[in-house]
Amino acid sequence: MNHFDLLGGELACEGVPLARIADEVGTPVYVYSSATLERHYTVLRDALRGVGLGEPLIAYAVKANGNLAVLRTLAALGAGADTVSEGEIRRALAAGVPPARIVFSGVGKTAAEIAFALKAGVAEINVESEPEMEAIAEVAAGLGLRATIAFRVNPDVEAGGHAKIATGKAENKFGVSFAEAERLYAMASNNAALRPIGVACHIGSQITDLAPMRAAFAKMRGLVERLRAEGLSVERLDLGGGLGVPYFNQPAPPSPDDYAAMIAQALGGLDVQLAFEPGRVIAANAGVLLARVLHIHERPEGRRFLVLDAAMNDLIRPAMYDAFHDIRPVHPRGGEPLAYDVVGPICETGDTFTRDRPLAPLQAGDLVAFMSAGAYGASMASEYNSRPLVPEVLVKADRYAVVRARPTYEEMLERERPAPWQ
Ligand code: LLP
Repeated sequence: MNHFDLLGGELACEGVPLARIADEVGTPVYVYSSATLERHYTVLRDALRGVGLGEPLIAYAVKANGNLAVLRTLAALGAGADTVSEGEIRRALAAGVPPARIVFSGVGKTAAEIAFALKAGVAEINVESEPEMEAIAEVAAGLGLRATIAFRVNPDVEAGGHAKIATGKAENKFGVSFAEAERLYAMASNNAALRPIGVACHIGSQITDLAPMRAAFAKMRGLVERLRAEGLSVERLDLGGGLGVPYFNQPAPPSPDDYAAMIAQALGGLDVQLAFEPGRVIAANAGVLLARVLHIHERPEGRRFLVLDAAMNDLIRPAMYDAFHDIRPVHPRGGEPLAYDVVGPICETGDTFTRDRPLAPLQAGDLVAFMSAGAYGASMASEYNSRPLVPEVLVKADRYAVVRARPTYEEMLERERPAPWQ
């Protein structure tokens, strides 16, 4: 459920008409709903509490949408943060996430990032390989600290979904094998600079079938049991993120309750704290990208291009993953749908959001909303073609605030300077 609905005949976010935001802030612009973020977080948390293994650590994946105001909204509800860089750890801390709820994941952490995480006192550093474990031990020893670590295991299951976001097969770069996890866990337990606290997995994103997760989690349970049988202490099992969301026209994903029921079945009675790293399921349907139609260009040979002021630099998912985003007119006025190729102004063919999309007739100046754009939208945006980074707005009931301003051209140019010899 989300809070983008018609209000007096026009599309609104909670109590704020999107047209008002477009007029006052300009387009393109991301608009997020506080109520939707809060609802998604609490529905998931309540479902996961129902698993019956105590209070889970829900570490929201900052990469999905790291805007400080979004993080603050979730932190206020008790959310933790799953981070993959010093920048993300800094964001989480700045938004008030306690370090004890911050997980530091990622395949390639630099020594400086590891040191930062250790000094901040994060809950766990997820170790993805043996050399990384050694690097963490070295940095921790140098600082006179003990690093709390979890081993990210690659469960070697096929998660389905787009190949570019599947992470759980042995051929992917993520995590260690089960055999390596056992060996490294024992090694780490004998290293004074390391405190292995658990194991972690994450098999992919936009997963719409519980079967691969069930298979992965059953294997993780086996690992926890084997480690314990060897006398090793395992306090936390991090099950990653990946739960899919209902993008319009795609297979309906399992609900948080279905997900929790599957986990209860797979892990019931294990006596371990569960941790989760959900991103998309919290943020995707809590945001839209609002754009204005610049022109409609009808080619005599038949194609009808809807040229928007938003482009692939603002929302890269269609270009990168062939992702489908529902496109809704802000002022629906009916009429027989026409097939549009929806494109942005960037100078490459990949700057096409969709082809042959049936949409009610639109005119230059109309506003459209790309739905389900709250996750991996603004966080993946760039300034390609020297287009100012798309701003972000957070709505709460009948109020809104610009939570990241569109940079001015002066600000964009000030970041660069001539070389001394120029
Ligand atoms: N934990 C780890 C270790 C991850 O790598 C990810 C996502 C998550 C958690 C959060 O997964 P989620 O719950 O959001 O599925 N840019 C792509 C998605 C990339 C996901 C990368 N890792 C997209 O726009 O579809």
